[in-house]
Amino acid sequence: MNPDVEKILVSEEQLREINMRLGKQITEDYKDKNLLVLGILKGCVFFMTDLVRCIDLPLSIDFMTVSSYGSGTRSSGRVKITKDIDIDLDGYDVLIVEDILDSGKTLHYVSQILKTRGARSIKIATLLDKPERRVAPITPDYVGCDVPDEFVVGYGLDYDQKYRNLPYIGQLRRSIYE
Ligand code: IMP
Ligand code: MG
Repeated sequence: MNPDVEKILVSEEQLREINMRLGKQITEDYKDKNLLVLGILKGCVFFMTDLVRCIDLPLSIDFMTVSSYGSGTRSSGRVKITKDIDIDLDGYDVLIVEDILDSGKTLHYVSQILKTRGARSIKIATLLDKPERRVAPITPDYVGCDVPDEFVVGYGLDYDQKYRNLPYIGQLRRSIYE
């Protein structure tokens, strides 16, 4: 285990189970739809690439980069799109894929914007949820699992751009960021 990690919250085995469970559910729900899986970079990468391979349907993928964080551990609330999608959303059923839902400010902003762009439907899949931290009116449609109000890293999630390549979700030691 990485020495900066206090404990493992979601193991590799649990991540595989989450992807299989969500993939099956999404496959059922999107059978007659025109699915576009839209990842929010960079945190989504490992979750999204594993999740889409558990979805047994034709689908398209695209990515968006938004920034709301500095190098701290709390969302600034000032959300900015730094890389936009490449395709027209007209006629697509969009499934936004996010690493973690915290205050909800980022996804609230992103889904407001996508609503103005002609998507047929918009839903949210998040690997992790910290429900007690929610400020913005956002409810995810698919959740991998809830995590406590601790800063977590790995499997795409970073602290100051580090730890994304850990194969599990770990709780970061407070001494690293306090
Ligand atoms: P929100 O706007 O507060 O919901 O923040 C969501 C974004 O903040 C996520 O997409 C993450 O990039 C980041 N974030 C929130 N909590 C954590 C965490 O515990 N570890 C790593 N990133 C986090
Ligand atoms: Mg993110």
